[in-house]
Amino acid sequence: MFPERLAQVQGAVGAALDEAIARYPAGSLRDAMAYAATGGKRLRAFLVLESAALFGVADALPAATAVEALHAYSLVHDDMPCMDDDDLRRGLPTVHVKWDEATAVLAGDALQTLAFALCTAPALGPHRIELVAALAEASGAGGMVHGQALDIAAETAAVPLSLAEITRLQAGKTGALISFAAEAGAILAGADRAPLAAYARALGLAFQIADDILDVEGSEQAAGKRLHKDAAAGKATFVSLLGLAGAKQRAAELVAEAEAALAPYGEKAETLRDAARYVIARDK
Ligand code: IPE
Ligand code: IPE
Ligand code: MG
Ligand code: MG
Ligand code: MG
Repeated sequence: MFPERLAQVQGAVGAALDEAIARYPAGSLRDAMAYAATGGKRLRAFLVLESAALFGVADALPAATAVEALHAYSLVHDDMPCMDDDDLRRGLPTVHVKWDEATAVLAGDALQTLAFALCTAPALGPHRIELVAALAEASGAGGMVHGQALDIAAETAAVPLSLAEITRLQAGKTGALISFAAEAGAILAGADRAPLAAYARALGLAFQIADDILDVEGSEQAAGKRLHKDAAAGKATFVSLLGLAGAKQRAAELVAEAEAALAPYGEKAETLRDAARYVIARDK
């Protein structure tokens, strides 16, 4: 059931992103935005839609589309020469390689503002201003961008990061946006966010550990991005700290933790439990 549901989400969110971007003036900026927004697993969109379903929120698609626009922006900038300097993303050349650095900066900027515009869609109902605020918190200087700054700083740190420091880095870089996505349904419903927040904390950490493991033993063909780069770049990762076996064990524990956090929702949360298991079993 999970793969079918994820495929549905991929179709709906891909179409919504295409439609939203097609409204902008034609040109290389718009082309680069559409290119960067294409593909991806759409895990964050899935989390938005499934958390919304838990609370009977009818139309959360604009919020699901928003989180993927914001995520796409983060990847365009993450791949630039001043950050990770990668030439392959989602199986295709990165935006600054296909166009140029200025286009990559601007396409990222524009995908970010598009994300906030999407969160204001009237269909999202009376709590959408809280959604806008939550997205700003999650993605900004106290969230994702902070994590990215710690990630870059760690490359030249005099001493390797501790487990607590790597965990803090992850909580920003990947955790914050995943938490936003998983809590979006509760935010839109005006409901208690605590159980989904606990789920997302464990899920986000497991997700980043899996990303770090993939960098070491994944296939570039399957992942669609350059791998085997973190160690050489001096990245602080869970694998560099815990080793491969230790990282895998920690990821499995976190998945169990994520599943347990969903207990208040019973059977209704089964696809979210499936998602937690998928996060560490994936090859891309
Ligand atoms: C990759 O995210 C970047 C990280 C935050 C580790 P995803 O693995 O979700 O990338 P896509 O969206 O599926 O391409
Ligand atoms: C990227 O993390 C996180 C964000 C874009 C916010 P990584 O640098 O580990 O992601 P990949 O490995 O390039 O996908
Ligand atoms: Mg990076
Ligand atoms: Mg990167
Ligand atoms: Mg990575």
